[in-house]
Formats: sequence, structure tokens, C-alpha cells
Amino acid sequence: MAEFVVRPAAAADARAMAEAFAAVAEERDGIASEPPVDVGERAALFARGTAGSVVAVAGDQVIGMIHVEVSRFGFGEFGMFVDRGWRGRGVGSALVQAAIGWARGQGLHKLCLEVFAHNTAAIALYRKCGFAEEGRRVKQYRRASGELWDSIVMGLLL
Ligand SMILES: CC(C)(COP(=O)(O)OP(=O)(O)OC[C@H]1O[C@@H](n2cnc3c(N)ncnc32)[C@H](O)[C@@H]1OP(=O)(O)O)[C@@H](O)C(=O)NCCC(=O)NCCS
Repeated sequence: MAEFVVRPAAAADARAMAEAFAAVAEERDGIASEPPVDVGERAALFARGTAGSVVAVAGDQVIGMIHVEVSRFGFGEFGMFVDRGWRGRGVGSALVQAAIGWARGQGLHKLCLEVFAHNTAAIALYRKCGFAEEGRRVKQYRRASGELWDSIVMGLLL
């Protein structure tokens, strides 16, 4: 199994992060964004806001990331993905643990997230990391297909 490292994101990672994000969006399954992703715009967004972002890197490839958006009210909300070819090898777990450590270091009292109700892999990952299901948002997300998808809200007190 190839090695990977998890570290805070730097502005220089932004393009690779955006490309990896666009590839996951193409799956139209786990993350809310769908194609087309403007990679340049997304890279600029990532470059501006590296605080709270952690990347998983293998060689010079960004294979996953997590971003914690800090609210004014003491909690952080995160989104994440792992490159399709790297799933099931502990990258997601390492990213969530890094985000929990970062959030604690920031003095946040809680981390939360929203996950599509069908996303059993992600829900299992979050449960394994101690997150509890707090509710369901019914037909919350309108997809490009016109389908309306439910999401589950999960949280972890730090
Ligand atoms: C969800 C995701 C981040 C998980 O990342 P990962 O690197 O595969 O996760 P890990 O290898 O660390 O697995 C952690 C746990 O998740 C669960 N899990 C992972 N893949 C699973 C699968 N296909 N089915 C069921 N559970 C699964 C297991 O509980 C696993 O723990 P275990 O290895 O001790 O059994 C990854 O599948 C992904 O990026 N998916 C597409 C984007 C996405 O859905 N992002 C989350 C949006 S909320």
C-alpha cells in the first residue's frame, strides 16, 4: 500500500485541490457540487481560504481534503472527499481525525456536517469517528437530474 501524508493545506496546493474536487463532483454522488466545476475559480477560492483546510497527499498528488468552516457561534462545519482510487485505505479517517484536532486547537466546541442520506460509506466513517446523527433534512438538495435528495445532519461535541 502506498503511503500518504496528512498536513495543513497551503496556497500552492489550491490547483491540485480544485482538480481533485472537480473529479469527485463528476461522480454526482457524494458531494453536493455537480459538474461543471470551474477549476480556476475553485482553485482561487481554495487559495484564499486555506485556514481550516487539511490535505492528504501522496507524492505530489492531492488525494483528499477536508475543510472546516468556522462559524461565529463556536462550531465548525466541514466538507471532505477522498480521490476515488484511494478510498477504503484510511485516508478519510486520517482527514477527519486531523480536522477534529484542528478544531479542538481552535477552541471550537462542536464539529458538524451534512451528508446525503444514501452515502453509507461517509455515514459509517463519521459514526466510527464518534459523530451522532442529529436529524434529517427531507428533499433538501435539488440535483441537476431534478431529483430531490435527503441529507443527514451529524455532529460531534469536542
Ligand atoms: C466518504 C469518504 C470520504 C470516505 O473516505 P475513505 O478514505 O474511503 O475512508 P476510510 O478508508 O478512512 O474508511 C473509514 C470508515 O468508513 C467506512 N467506509 C469506508 N468505505 C466504506 C464503504 N464503501 N462502505 C461502507 N463503509 C465504508 C468504514 O467504517 C471505514 O472504517 P473501517 O476501515 O474501519 O471499516 C470517501 O468515500 C469519499 O470521498 N467519497 C466521495 C465524496 C464524499 O462522499 N464525501 C463526503 C461528503 S459528506
